[in-house]
Amino acid sequence: MTKLISINKKISFFKKKTISVEGDKSLSIRFVLLSSISKGKCVGKNLLKSEDVLSAINSIRKLGIKVKLQNKNCEVSGKGLNGYDYKKNIILNAGNSGTTARLICASVINTSHHIKITGDESLRKRDMQRIIEPLSKFGAKFTSNNKKLPLKIIGPKKLKPIYYYEKLGSAQCKSAVMIAALKSDGKTRIKCKPSRNHTEIMFEKVLKIPIKVQKFKKFETIEISGLNEFEGFNYNIPGDISSASFFIVLTLLSKNSCLTIKEVNINPSRTGIVTILNKMGAQIKFLNKRNYKGELIADIYVKSKSNLKPINLNPSLNSSAIDEFLLIFLVASKCNGISKFVKLSELNKKESKRLDWGIKILRMMGVKVNKIKHHGLKIWGSKNLELKKEYVIKNFLKDHRIFMVSTIAALTLGGKWNIYDSDSYKTSFPSFLKILKSLGANIK
Ligand code: S3P
Repeated sequence: MTKLISINKKISFFKKKTISVEGDKSLSIRFVLLSSISKGKCVGKNLLKSEDVLSAINSIRKLGIKVKLQNKNCEVSGKGLNGYDYKKNIILNAGNSGTTARLICASVINTSHHIKITGDESLRKRDMQRIIEPLSKFGAKFTSNNKKLPLKIIGPKKLKPIYYYEKLGSAQCKSAVMIAALKSDGKTRIKCKPSRNHTEIMFEKVLKIPIKVQKFKKFETIEISGLNEFEGFNYNIPGDISSASFFIVLTLLSKNSCLTIKEVNINPSRTGIVTILNKMGAQIKFLNKRNYKGELIADIYVKSKSNLKPINLNPSLNSSAIDEFLLIFLVASKCNGISKFVKLSELNKKESKRLDWGIKILRMMGVKVNKIKHHGLKIWGSKNLELKKEYVIKNFLKDHRIFMVSTIAALTLGGKWNIYDSDSYKTSFPSFLKILKSLGANIK
């Protein structure tokens, strides 16, 4: 039997509270993987110690890289672009982490022995063709389980640079190609739809790698010159806006509450949720803004809002809120009128089929929802939505974001909830329940 939590009571108001969320997951995984191919000692502070990041750490350890973990600090002794110990029969397990699986394929692209890469039940259902295709162009050879994990990779002696057109708006695909480009002899060119740009910023501002990024109206181009070794580096990881978002929505939908979330990464390629909620009438503010090695950081201030407006969302905002849509759907169900979201088919390719799960949970709550083809939905929201029945959430492939959004629904809308697989949140946000309890949430 899997563990479960029960919530039978909404959270009472909380005022003038300040919290911190843990380090950003995308930046933590990038720190781990890039430090492993640097030449020297790297120190990461405030590293997220979640299961996804530990999967990345365990993977580089198997490749012969020394990692010391102490509290939230992480010291990695990188051995350069060709420093991995490629032994026979290495198996890397990325657990639940799509970012680790896809980016590690790129870091081991020059392996001289076959490396097997696998993951948990959810990750083994996810598409790997999206990285197999571009990484094969560099000269690597893959065998896979019908384009999914487990897969095996073996690299060529010398990697040739490539031209790659990234059409999905996937930061993982773009970043995988960028990492492989570091190991190839010449200039790799990428044309891509906009997506989170942490890898570009780290390459330029932290690793000082020759890179040229140009932004056009609907796409961007990136040029990277390979075979440039880079020194060890230090990096302080700011708070994760995807984790902060659960508390933004908790506050917004609770009565008479306000909250400050300290030191969150507000890179514009990640702040779609704030832009969207503010368009819906929220008044979320960024305070004490500053720049840290190319990344923007701020404290986020949010207060309750009862008169939210529905939204017909322009899909140009989809990518910057891609991990937050379950929360946005929840807010849409709590404001008077019809909200519409389209071009979100990528949501069904995440840790679970999140578009379908969003629809399922809202319907379970009695909210009218129509699916738009395979990629969107319409939500008939009501400001007076109050839940009174019993709700059970289970069999969601342990998708951390399904677990956490269900918890926020229970704490803001009422009803009696039993939410299974209660360890799921440890994938990305190990202090989630602890912070909720510190704000007064009654969770059994
Ligand atoms: C991530 C990119 C996004 C996001 C994921 C993390 C990253 O995925 O959903 O949680 O760290 O690069 P895609 O690259 O599939 O858009």
